[in-house]
Amino acid sequence: MQNKLKQIRDEAIAKINSAGELDKLNDIRVSFLGKKGELTSIMKSMKDLSPEERPAFGQMVNQARAEIENALEDMKSSLAKKARELQLKSEVIDVTLPARKNNVGHRHPNSIALDEVERIFVGMGYEVVEGPEVEKDYYNFEALNIPENHPARDEQDTFYINANMLLRSQTSGVQVHTMETQPLPIKVIAPGRVYRSDEVDATHSPCFHQIEGLVVGKDITFADLKGTLAEFARELFGEETKVKFRPHHFPFTEPSAEVDVTCFKCGGKGCRMCKGSGWIEILGCGMVHPNVLRMSGIDPDEYSGFAFGVGLERIALLKYEIDDMRLMYENDVRFLKQF
Ligand code: DAH
Repeated sequence: MQNKLKQIRDEAIAKINSAGELDKLNDIRVSFLGKKGELTSIMKSMKDLSPEERPAFGQMVNQARAEIENALEDMKSSLAKKARELQLKSEVIDVTLPARKNNVGHRHPNSIALDEVERIFVGMGYEVVEGPEVEKDYYNFEALNIPENHPARDEQDTFYINANMLLRSQTSGVQVHTMETQPLPIKVIAPGRVYRSDEVDATHSPCFHQIEGLVVGKDITFADLKGTLAEFARELFGEETKVKFRPHHFPFTEPSAEVDVTCFKCGGKGCRMCKGSGWIEILGCGMVHPNVLRMSGIDPDEYSGFAFGVGLERIALLKYEIDDMRLMYENDVRFLKQF
């Protein structure tokens, strides 16, 4: 029996030493020390021994049990230690690696240009307002002195939603909304998206942006218009910039003009930028037509005003010397990052 005991003990310890995994250790514990384990069954066979032999054998069994338990404990902590080392090794952080680059977006040249235009006009006491992109025919045309069948409608060939709703072709309708709702005097700019059924090319897009301007009050004259836009041009394109007012026609202003600025690239001598003329056209403007004032409930005998409309893309393209408008809508960060 003693030999048997020794054999069990040796076998248990050998198995423990070669277990290699925590789970296996548990199985070994059960198979040797468990209720139906080998050590337990040898304990049970003690009844076959003489009473004199029993205590000594009992002690031996207890010792074997203690040895097996110790071996189990030792192996358990050594395996746990190994597992922890392995985990630490796999989670190691190399602090010398370069940091992962965070890709931060970039403001669109349109947004940068709009901020600049807003800054200039807010500095002159203007308020920034907005109007709807889905607009009534009345605001886009009718109230701007462009009745049905007026040829100006063809020029702005429009996306209609139904007989009297459309995607606005110009921000000028915001003039009317503002005159209908705001107390006089009025001094606003109204930036926003406009839509026309134009083919996409280097200078056209079916959706682009305008900034409308409107001033209405007592004794507003063409001199105010000229002074305001000349100051705007100087702030936007540089102190040396000169403006030229060319007579033009818009149905909602009378008189009307287009404004050219001296080319900021060549200073007026003529270059590729200004196509050799020394001048660059930047906006349309005029004195608000009496019909337009009247339709919005303002007495043209008492009040007068001026208005202007600027293409935002045009300003951005000029300012940043971008030669193809399509680049503005491609959202290529390599392009956007340059401004
Ligand atoms: N709405 C005009 C256009 O889209 C631009 C314009 C011209 C606006 C003259 C104005 C203005 O306010 O007075 O072509």
